[in-house]
Amino acid sequence: MNMSAFTDKVSKRRTFAIISHPDAGKTTLTEKFLLYGGAIQEAGMVKGKQNMRHAVSDWMEIEKQRGISVTSSVLQFNYDGYCINILDTPGHQDFSEDTYRTLMAADSAVMVIDGSKGVEDQTRKLFKVCAMRHIPIFTFINKMDREAKDPYELLEEIEQELGVETYPINWPIGCGKEFKGVYEREKREVIRFESIAGGRKEVKEVVTSVDDPELKEAIGEDYFQILQDDVELLDGAGADFDLDKVHHGQLSPVCFGSALTNFGVEPFLEHFLNFSEAPAPRKSDIGEIDPMSEEFSAFVFKIQANMNSRHRDRMAFMRITSGTFTKGMEVYHMQGKKKIKLNQSKSLMADEREEIQEAYSGDIIGVFDPGIFSIGDTILTGKKKFQFEGIPTFAPEHFARIRNTDTMKRKQFVKGITQIAQEGAIQIFTELGGGMEEIIIGVVGVLQFEVLAYRLKNEYNVEIVNTPLPYQFIRWIDNTDIDVKTLNLSSDTKYVQDLKGKTLLLFSNTWGINWATDRNPGLELSEFSQN
Ligand code: G4P
Repeated sequence: MNMSAFTDKVSKRRTFAIISHPDAGKTTLTEKFLLYGGAIQEAGMVKGKQNMRHAVSDWMEIEKQRGISVTSSVLQFNYDGYCINILDTPGHQDFSEDTYRTLMAADSAVMVIDGSKGVEDQTRKLFKVCAMRHIPIFTFINKMDREAKDPYELLEEIEQELGVETYPINWPIGCGKEFKGVYEREKREVIRFESIAGGRKEVKEVVTSVDDPELKEAIGEDYFQILQDDVELLDGAGADFDLDKVHHGQLSPVCFGSALTNFGVEPFLEHFLNFSEAPAPRKSDIGEIDPMSEEFSAFVFKIQANMNSRHRDRMAFMRITSGTFTKGMEVYHMQGKKKIKLNQSKSLMADEREEIQEAYSGDIIGVFDPGIFSIGDTILTGKKKFQFEGIPTFAPEHFARIRNTDTMKRKQFVKGITQIAQEGAIQIFTELGGGMEEIIIGVVGVLQFEVLAYRLKNEYNVEIVNTPLPYQFIRWIDNTDIDVKTLNLSSDTKYVQDLKGKTLLLFSNTWGINWATDRNPGLELSEFSQN
């Protein structure tokens, strides 16, 4: 491929993660996006959560048993000359560290908010990780066809709770049964929400200029007046739209709509493409790596074990950071200090895991992993050798003490949990200076406990008992010059160490965290551990 064709492909790529609290409408919005795309012909393929989940991952036995997905999926579609990668972030009980790691592979995030509920817990958690990376966040306030909170209140809530400025790109006119549509601020047009006779879910989008006398009749005098007032208020009081702030994750463009009725989805997609940028450079130990560079490079952000129970194979998911990937290519694995061939490369399309022939900077690929990759690893083809900045370890929220039931199998037990922890499926903590006899496991999502027990039994033939612990928060101590034993801590705070020997504090409640920071001036605690 010549250079300009390559640059063209990369500049037209967009890779975003879709984040929300369960039930806000993430699946529905994704499905509608795909409807506009050329890559997936039948929208039916992802209709309903159930189908989507089964289609995307039926790998692990545990997934089949519970009918849920432990993996995050990637969907790709084309729209208006762009090639768009959507990284799904699993929610509900399948929420795990992988959900956070997925955000490391995205260049921006689309945040779906239920208009009747506002900012919810899981959105808050995922947002924090996006904010840490300063990636652009585009907000879609969904379900405007239902009773919703006041739009000013919703924006206020996003600003207050998430600490990001907002800029409404469009503005809703009414909600629920009285939802009349949205006003597109820049074009000064109203996209009217008009039901189609007989169709409950489908609506028509009718575009009318805000100055068109017909509008008053169409939306009614009262709403017309409210709209005039809102327009005046927004134009007068609101801050200017600052694209630079958007690109630094300080300002979130907000659109209103209704994914279910496919209303406002295409305008949102168009705004997103307008404001988002091509794949971003990534930091490495030799500086930023340019996505337009021809030399291939990528980093591993997720490892999926046991996709095929007969072969016990693993897949490593990589974000391509520069150059072109071609099937079966030879690359250099920095951490393994070895040349390897990338085989069985898969994309994660909704329908099947097709083998990828080629992929470009910005794309996500899954490759067969013979057990050599770890999260954060760098692979590359160029002469210049470098390593990407590691992927942080995220604070677990559930803790348990685990014990192996058969003392004769101590060796397998230690090997199993260490390997599973190295893959990033769990975090292990021990008493300060303690050995592997007393192990505390920390996870982000409770399902990870189940996965651990399942895998230890199936792969290492080890049974465990699991005693839940009351801790809910963990913080890494950033100070290197502190003797933890001298800290003034509440009696229910526990100190432990991680596999790398870093010291951490375990808290049962936020009160304990406040105690620690209030009574130990200079103590620096953090929710992530940069590897
Ligand atoms: P999630 O992936 O974020 O968990 O949410 P999902 O899209 O599955 O949507 C959750 C529920 O909200 C679904 O209803 C879906 O149909 C509904 N929904 C999504 N967008 C809208 C919208 O714009 N307006 C309205 N009124 N409802 C919306 P469900 O009954 O739980 O599931 P289903 O049986 O319809 O699939």
